[in-house]
Amino acid sequence: MADLKPSIMVIFGASGDLAHIKIFPALYSLWEEGFFPESFALVGFARTKMNDEEFRKSIFSSLNSHCRKRPIQEEDFLKFSKHIYYLPSLYDKVESYTELGKFITSKANEYKITKNIVYYLSTPPSVYNDAIEGIKNADLVSEDFKGEGFSKIVIEKPFGYDYKSAKELNEHLLSVFKEEDIYRIDHYLGKETVQNILAFRFSNAIFEPIWNNKYIDHVQISALESIGVGLRAGYFDESGTIRDMMQNHMIQLLSLVAIEPPALFDADDIRNEKVKLLKSVRPLSLNDVKKYTVRGQYDRGVIDGKQVVSYKEEEGIDANSITDTYAAMKLYVDNYRWAGVPFYLRAGKRLKTHKTEIAVYFKKLPYSLFAKAGIENIKQNSIIITIQPNEGISINIGAKKPGFVMDIEPVCMVFNYKSSFRLSPPDAYERLIYDVILGDQTLFARYDDMLIAWQLITSVMNGWSKMEPPVFPNYDAGSWGPKEADELIGADGREWNNAV
Ligand code: BG6
Repeated sequence: MADLKPSIMVIFGASGDLAHIKIFPALYSLWEEGFFPESFALVGFARTKMNDEEFRKSIFSSLNSHCRKRPIQEEDFLKFSKHIYYLPSLYDKVESYTELGKFITSKANEYKITKNIVYYLSTPPSVYNDAIEGIKNADLVSEDFKGEGFSKIVIEKPFGYDYKSAKELNEHLLSVFKEEDIYRIDHYLGKETVQNILAFRFSNAIFEPIWNNKYIDHVQISALESIGVGLRAGYFDESGTIRDMMQNHMIQLLSLVAIEPPALFDADDIRNEKVKLLKSVRPLSLNDVKKYTVRGQYDRGVIDGKQVVSYKEEEGIDANSITDTYAAMKLYVDNYRWAGVPFYLRAGKRLKTHKTEIAVYFKKLPYSLFAKAGIENIKQNSIIITIQPNEGISINIGAKKPGFVMDIEPVCMVFNYKSSFRLSPPDAYERLIYDVILGDQTLFARYDDMLIAWQLITSVMNGWSKMEPPVFPNYDAGSWGPKEADELIGADGREWNNAV
């Protein structure tokens, strides 16, 4: 077990949803598994007025709804909660940061620990600049500690609104923190199955030799959700699927499935390979945006037998909104390995099913021995990496159907996480927070891969803004998405993998 340094974690936005649903449940699980030292402090820093006790109570009730380890016993929580504090604060007020500084010094003295501080920004992005300035002006970063401690910052998405704002935010961050102290969260990278993509590719001798344009016909990356916009109308209507899913999770999945083997399995080597790969993604001209991208927005429909409202009817959404709740695109990676292989990406809300997967389709047979025996349409081989639900990998092959005549049917070889390992994997946030404390940046976005992804996505958004406004809604809730997305892949004689 790794030796984690004593730490003080300051959670900005600690009274909000993300802190209650993801961050504290992850912190509790890590604590419960013994990953925390004797002395540590978790400090909530947010606008809502409450005291330590009220904050602890609210955390207890969230843990019982969201923690992997629930139900949580009160006596266990008491041991954990004595490390939790709350400072009602205003993000743009110098005094709040002065108070924070005093609090940190007093806890460091009381616990006899060095100031090893993690700032976790779990606020709306409009707060980021104030928080960075506040921390800097109150002398609360590593260089102020004169070698006695460190400061790191964890920052949630959306990391910027487009290429320009992401670059500015990055420059601001880098004027206060060093790149090696900045942890840009993409929670997909904390998922076991996403990490397994590299294990699958680079720990098996049988796949990598065929992982190229000689054998692979095309790749599909899908993140389909049946949930709608929920309670996040304000955020989502500004972002749309293009920023919410494509710029980060989808591009990260594309990178992992397509990168070259890194020299070493470490943060910089892996991220260098990602940058190299993303630089090879063919930029999209306005004409390409018209031809190779699709956006959609859901109408009313039926999900799990229940009637649901259209996007424009959701609470907090403008009745004329043209925000995309679905996006699809075709990309090419112009390098030696992938030249000519299309990568089709699609993500959306209120779709027929919930599944996230990477489907790798192999080329059709060069010649079919069995055609002469009257067996037509033998299916292409495929490997489906299922990220959720039913995490695992399946390999689809053709096999002879038992009997007196030769007949070939598709069959599936399945590796399933749950049945193979009989373990419940840590939640993505547990893994990522653990790595922050440990100081391992492998599973976090670096400034350059994040900016290249923004460059690509900004070209799509700019293209969309120059095109005729879409006629939305254009797909029913509970369907597979807009027909234009089927046409996008259909134009190449292919279809989406809609198997569930
Ligand atoms: C988040 C998006 O980053 O990812 C959400 O903001 C989306 O809109 C979620 O629902 C999907 O994550 P997961 O882990 O449920 O696939």
